[in-house]
Formats: sequence, structure tokens, C-alpha cells
Amino acid sequence: MTRAGGRPQTRFVCQSCGESFLRWEGQCRACNAWNSLVESVVREPRRTAARRAPSTDPAARPTSLAAVVEPLVGRQRVGISELDRVLGGGLVAGSVVLVGGEPGIGKSTLLLQAAAGVVASGGSSVLYATGEESAAQVRLRAARLGLLDGPAAEAIRVVAESDVGRIAEFARAERPDVVVVDSIQTATVDELDGAAGSVGQVRESALRLMELAKGEGIAVVLVGHVTKDGSLAGPKTLEHLVDAVINIEGERFAALRLVRASKNRFGSIEEVGVFEMGDVGLSEVADPARAFLSEHDAPAAGSVVAPTLEGSRPILVEVQALVAPGNVGMPRRTASGVDSNRIGLLIAVLGRRAGIGLATHDVYVNLAGGLSVGEPGLDLPIALALASSLRDRPVRDLTVAIGEVGLLGELRPVAGVDRRLREAARLGFRRAVVPVGARGAAVGRVNGMEVLPVGTLREAIEVSLGGAAERVASAPARC
Ligand SMILES: Nc1ncnc2c1ncn2[C@@H]1O[C@H](COP(=O)(O)OP(=O)(O)OP(=O)(O)O)[C@@H](O)[C@H]1O
Ligand SMILES: [Mg+2]
Ligand SMILES: [Zn+2]
Repeated sequence: MTRAGGRPQTRFVCQSCGESFLRWEGQCRACNAWNSLVESVVREPRRTAARRAPSTDPAARPTSLAAVVEPLVGRQRVGISELDRVLGGGLVAGSVVLVGGEPGIGKSTLLLQAAAGVVASGGSSVLYATGEESAAQVRLRAARLGLLDGPAAEAIRVVAESDVGRIAEFARAERPDVVVVDSIQTATVDELDGAAGSVGQVRESALRLMELAKGEGIAVVLVGHVTKDGSLAGPKTLEHLVDAVINIEGERFAALRLVRASKNRFGSIEEVGVFEMGDVGLSEVADPARAFLSEHDAPAAGSVVAPTLEGSRPILVEVQALVAPGNVGMPRRTASGVDSNRIGLLIAVLGRRAGIGLATHDVYVNLAGGLSVGEPGLDLPIALALASSLRDRPVRDLTVAIGEVGLLGELRPVAGVDRRLREAARLGFRRAVVPVGARGAAVGRVNGMEVLPVGTLREAIEVSLGGAAERVASAPARC
């Protein structure tokens, strides 16, 4: 690659100590960190004189909170209510949103649909820059999604371009409401020699697209690939730079997709959106609370339904566990959708406090529908599913369970029990096993559903797998 004179220079900057070098080296000579040098564009030093002179811009001087002018946060709805809800009401002009997800999960689909939604909800135009596909491929997808008949066919402008400078030029010339860059891993700036997807390219591209967003008041949406372990490929700093990070989760070969924000400067991260992938793209799910429940003809050993709370929305999810005698040596512990360290802890507590010995068993736990849930309330349903699988005995029919498990085998309350139980009752569950003293949990009945407060994991297993239900149900709640 040749360089014209006068071009900005590049340096390799250590990400751990900040020292810069002329060429790449495996180890930083200043701090000895390995693989920490990232190619970066050298920016012109700020005019220090101008900086020292007293600023005439009132915004740059301390102002009382009361006197600060409230910004006009212009929000552009994307016209897909589940997505608007996750965004906090729509895309904010001048903001940068990163949409992440595993390969093939539906990022391009969702964003093309959102582009059409922007147009349908009053936006003038959307620039869709793709470095992943040709314009013709985008058109094929649009045709499949039925977007070619409406006004979106004119107002969505497609360009197969990965050079950020050119994308910004097009955006400045066309002044769209929204620019989609699919994906940030294919985006490049031509001052850097590094390959697309390298840390330097990804970060510099994102910085420039941010300048575009802030400078022109355009909402910029970046698509980012996520690796199998769930982190956004490329630098972690990307997540700090952008205003919002939206993740699309689900199993590629199953239909359900959960969309949630892990960061949002312009809205809550409590909201989730639930979609279903079909041949006409992603459609909103009518009853998200039951979307992740799988249908069984009869109760199955190892399956427990948990009323989880995703932000403010109750979602019932089925925990599935399978235990099998292991071979000599290290038993396998495989978890999907739940924290595998937590599984190890629950196995230990089950063994020591509840008489469920799994130390030498292979253990598999997963959540139906490809959901992942991080809340501690899932402890009890996971432990019950393990016990149920070991004893090869299903939990009582139409029973849900929720609660955190402590090291002593005691159960701890979780937040929002009432909301969870009302939702479970609405979906036809008859019984709920919850920790005693759960705030807001009515002992007795919630909307016709029997509530069984229990104090320990051992009790919970007895109640759920049959046996001592009546005794525990009528015992006074301990607080
Ligand atoms: N002809 C089709 N009929 C039905 N569904 C399809 C069809 N083509 C693609 N899909 C669905 O769309 C998904 C791919 O969506 P999309 O291309 O939006 O994903 P992506 O996240 O952008 O992928 P990538 O990481 O490759 O860019 C497929 O996994 C499949 O579920
Ligand atoms: Mg794509
Ligand atoms: Zn260093």
C-alpha cells in the first residue's frame, strides 16, 4: 500500500500503558505486555493556545444545573414496537448503537426491517452500507421480507462499501435519518494498514462513525459479530464508545430471538424484545411470557419451569437437566444459557445439604429456546431439575419454582415474586415453590395458584418431587 505525503501517520499504541511505537512488536518494550500494540492514527495535537484562552462558548463553562439548556432528544421510531421498547423509544439522533449477535442470528434482517420501519414511521431516508454483502443480496433479502412494494424501496439507500470515509461522504451528501453499517468488522479507514476486523481498524472506524453521528445529528447503527463465548469480537472499548449496545440472542436453528440492551445511555436496560424468525423475517411474538416454554405431553424428569424476570417483563422458561453416571476421572459439566460456575456450586450444595449426590455424574443443563438467564433466582429451578433427573422423577405437574440457593442450602427470596407468580397463574400453572419470606409473595394463593413457601433446598425437593407438600404448605411462614 502506498501513501501520499501529508497523510496522517500511524503508530502502534500499547493498549495497556499508552506508549507508542513505529512498528508492531509482539511485546511492549515499555510495560512488557504481550500483544498489546494496536495500530492507531496519530491525530493532530490540539491547539493548546486556543485551549488555554478563556472559552467564549457558554456550554464549555460551569453552569448551574438549573440553567443548563435541556437537549432536544430527537427520537426516530423504528416502527417495530419490541425494538423501540428496547431502544427506549426509538433511535436518538446523533447517537451510535451497536447491534451484536452471533453469525446468522438475524442482525441484517432486523436492521433492514428496522430501516423500513424508520421510513414507515416518518423518517425520510436510511443509508444502509454493507461490507458483508452486495447491494443485490440486500435487495434479495428486502424482497423476501416484502419491503420492495412500500415507500421503503425508494427511501432505503444501499451501498456496498466498507470504507468509512466514503460512507461518511455519502451520509453527508444524502443526510439520512439513520446510517446502518453492516458490519463494523468489515469497516476500514484507509490510513491504517491493518486488515478489516483488526482492533485498530474496528476502533478507528467506530470513532469516525461516531464523529459522523455527533457532527451531523444522524443516528448510526453498527452491526457487530459476537463470538461463541458471547463477547463482541474486536475491542471491548467499542462497547464503551457507543451510546447503546443491543444484543440479539437465541439459537440459530431455533426460531426465537431475544433482543436486549446491555447498555443504553438513552433508556433503560430493563426491557427485552421477543421475536420469532420466519421466512418473512423477524416478527413480534404475541405472548412473550410463554414463548420460551416448550410443550410436553406429560411431565418429564429433569424439567422445571421458572418464572424469570427479564427486566420488567416476566418470562417463563424451562430449565432442562440431564444427569448420567460419569466415567472415572473428571465428570462433565455442560451448561448452556446459565452460568456453569453456578452449576458447580449447586451440585456441591445438593450433595452436602440435600442428599442429592452428583459428584461423579456427568451433568448437562440448558434453557429451552436458547435463552440465557443470569439471575440468581434460577438456582432453585436448576437444583430441582438436577434432583428430578437424578431420581428420574418429574416435578409435580404445572409447578413453577424460583429462588436463590445459599451455601447452607437455605433459600433466599428474589425480587418481583408477585409479578412472576401472577404471570405463571395466568399461563395456567397451579403451584409455585418459592422461598419463605419472599417479599410480596402472598402465602396461600395467587390468582388461584397455590403458593408453597419453603425454607431450604431439601424442603423444596420434597415438595416438588412429591411427598411432604401438605405439611410444608400449611406451615407458618418464617421471616
Ligand atoms: N430464505 C429464507 N427463508 C427463511 N429464513 C431465512 C431465509 N434466509 C435466511 N433466513 C433466516 O435468516 C437468518 C440469517 O439472517 P441474517 O442474514 O439477518 O443474519 P446475520 O446475523 O446478519 O448473519 P451474518 O452474521 O452472516 O451477517 C438465517 O439464519 C435464517 O434463519
Ligand atoms: Mg448480516
Ligand atoms: Zn505497554
